[in-house]
Amino acid sequence: MKKIGVFDIHFSEEERKLFYSYCDQIFEEAYLTNHTFVKKFEKEFSTFSKIPYSLLVPSGTAALELALKTIDVKGKKVILPTNTFIATAVAVINAGATPLILDIENQYFSLSPEQLKNNIEEEVAAVITVHIGGHISPSIKEIQKICKENNIPLIEDCAHAHGASLDGASAGSFGVAGCFSHFLTKIMTTGEGGSLISNNQDFFQKAISLRRFGHKLDNPLIHELPGGGNYKVSEFQAALGVVELKRIQSRIDKRRELAKAYKKNLDGTNWKVITDSQDSKGSYYKQIIIPPEEISRTEIESILTKAQIPLTGGVYNHPLHQQPVMRDYVQGQSFSVADDFCSRHICPPCYPELELKDIDLICETLRKL
Ligand SMILES: Cc1ncc(COP(=O)(O)O)c(C=O)c1O
Repeated sequence: MKKIGVFDIHFSEEERKLFYSYCDQIFEEAYLTNHTFVKKFEKEFSTFSKIPYSLLVPSGTAALELALKTIDVKGKKVILPTNTFIATAVAVINAGATPLILDIENQYFSLSPEQLKNNIEEEVAAVITVHIGGHISPSIKEIQKICKENNIPLIEDCAHAHGASLDGASAGSFGVAGCFSHFLTKIMTTGEGGSLISNNQDFFQKAISLRRFGHKLDNPLIHELPGGGNYKVSEFQAALGVVELKRIQSRIDKRRELAKAYKKNLDGTNWKVITDSQDSKGSYYKQIIIPPEEISRTEIESILTKAQIPLTGGVYNHPLHQQPVMRDYVQGQSFSVADDFCSRHICPPCYPELELKDIDLICETLRKL
């Protein structure tokens, strides 16, 4: 039987041929960056995300950084949850702001609205919430309300959440900007890459300018805005993205099918499988499972390893407040919800190359525990 890998990605013969034909076109046009395929990808990603404005950038980190620079957070504070990848905090620091790191809520493990409410202060220039594992927490509505009342821009870190929605509203539509990662393991990939999407035309125009050193939109030789840089992407990455967008929905559907199989297999046990809420549709970048309290993650890992089943990285095993590099930003704070969730949950494999029988096998091993 084929071994279950920690991750796999496959492109069919037909998908490869399409990509090669795009490469031929790129060589024919001899314009290898920020041209036909970048524009095509941006248009199609906009349509997929149901958001009018979209920019392709070198990474999810770059998308966050560019969004923060567009808001102009320099010298101010930016609120973000502790339960995220280090990139979210690094983007804040690279944009010249100080991260104000807060605890999470315990339904979908994103920024806690109560914590947000208690920590709003004049110096806060932006708030970032993260759609953990590809779920938009219903608590985002409360976060949106607090941000609106205090006139603070909201950014969604949608690195995991391509195609996710809540009440029909898509990831990236709740604030001024949605920032996606197209890294290899994500819902879709351009190898490395990211997208910045927005509903706001003024914000978008400024982001276009900052993507290329703050140039004037009607004169690329004149640079008028400070804080810009080179956030452009090659045509080859964009061409791969165009191929990915042709299959993204079917791959999300497959993830949802696998997630259903996890739920069905573990129903009636004391393993808590995180699934959609009544109004939400997750992308299932990760299948989050909370094991019974009496079994530690180390025990689970060692038994799964014997059965040749890997666990994928958690979201997240080591939240920001536990990272040595973030120590100075979290002095004296308590993160009890994140400490509990981050130390206990597991993320067994959940990517479209898996088959339903793989999930049956993984769950059978978990049930035996
Ligand atoms: C929550 C989150 N934010 C941001 C990023 C950064 O994305 P990238 O690796 O494309 O820079 C990641 C990537 O893993 C992520 O998981």
